[in-house]
Amino acid sequence: MNHPINPLKSDFPVFRNHPALAYLDNTASSQKPDAVIEGVKRFLEFDYANIHRGAYALSERSEHLYEHSKEKVRDLIGAASSAEIIYTYNSTYAVNLLSLSLARSGMLKKGDRVLVSIAEHHANVVPWLVLKEWFGVEVDYFGMTNDFEIDFADIDSKMTPDTKVVAVTSASNVTGAVFDVASLGRHVSEMRDRDGNKPLFVVDARQAVPNYAVDVKHLHADFLFFTAHKMMADTGLGVLYGRKDLLKSIQPALSGGGAINWVKKEAFAPAGLPYRFEPGTPNVIGAVSLLHAIEYFESIGGYARVEEIEKPLIAKALDRFAALGDKVRLIGPKDPSQKIGIFSFTLLGVHVSDLTEHFAKYDVCVRSGYHCAEPLAAELGIDGTVRMSLYLYNDENDLDAFFSALEGAIASAAE
Ligand SMILES: Cc1ncc(COP(=O)(O)O)c(C=O)c1O
Repeated sequence: MNHPINPLKSDFPVFRNHPALAYLDNTASSQKPDAVIEGVKRFLEFDYANIHRGAYALSERSEHLYEHSKEKVRDLIGAASSAEIIYTYNSTYAVNLLSLSLARSGMLKKGDRVLVSIAEHHANVVPWLVLKEWFGVEVDYFGMTNDFEIDFADIDSKMTPDTKVVAVTSASNVTGAVFDVASLGRHVSEMRDRDGNKPLFVVDARQAVPNYAVDVKHLHADFLFFTAHKMMADTGLGVLYGRKDLLKSIQPALSGGGAINWVKKEAFAPAGLPYRFEPGTPNVIGAVSLLHAIEYFESIGGYARVEEIEKPLIAKALDRFAALGDKVRLIGPKDPSQKIGIFSFTLLGVHVSDLTEHFAKYDVCVRSGYHCAEPLAAELGIDGTVRMSLYLYNDENDLDAFFSALEGAIASAAE
């Protein structure tokens, strides 16, 4: 190895335990630093109890950490209050909670339209299609330009007075293209539906929040969601942000203990915000892990540090892909300023799952398939890709391992 090792690697036990590992599947999930693992361990050893129900010190400490985690998230995404931060179980669960709650509240009904981008992850497609099946809500798609940017002309052609929701990802989990969500949010905020209301603007920030700064006000986001495990925290925790005035007017699709003020045999009254959207025991351990993940993220320099590490790697990876010739087809923007560290590609004559197995032999962790974005694959005419993706602990040694394995596959394919 000729390149300096990324010093952040030493903060992650997985890399100490597997020094030869080139972990390049970060779009799917991220590795966990000592700060998170030790923070959760300390919590379980000293402070753990169920929250909201105990007057004893352990429960109070547990609750304090749960709430503190939400305050951290509030600050991270520029929300006005932690009452706007709902903890779910992942991004997918967050969209389902939102879509079903909008339907339950009569804010989406038969004939209403939801407009999503063709680049969405299934998480931001299927819950809306469920509303189509269940309630007759229409789902339509807007496209991308040849540069993988949002096609605003196509949006305008698809908007109708029945469009009640516009939902978009901040960055594609297949192409890595970063969408100009702020401009879209502004555009949507100037539109009016048949009732004179602005369509709701929903942002899938799962690929954004771990990589670059997101501010819900700047984006004009009414709702926004992301997943903690992609940002070095535990699995099983999703974040749903909702504008407070909207959350107040929406009836949660799910309810039960913890989400109510009182219950009688025939009726109940919902709890205040955000608890009315969090029935049952929440993922307290996940919340504490996210608290430690954000603290760790801040301690290493936050988004400025991510950019400092990832931007040069993205540029180098693009150059190295370009040098491989036309047998390798890289899908997505070729300009490093337009993308995050996600690289999806095919190799002529080699099936994508054979290719990922080839990478695995060299301890290079990548993923193949449609990456839960089948409408996008159909649009681009691709039958799956291999996806390599970076995060803040990667370095040029990882890129070397990846490209040397890829060059080996190219050479074998040519034999
Ligand atoms: C853009 C995007 N949105 C949503 C999801 C779903 O996230 P989760 O599996 O955490 O629900 C993913 C998963 O990769 C994604 O990349």
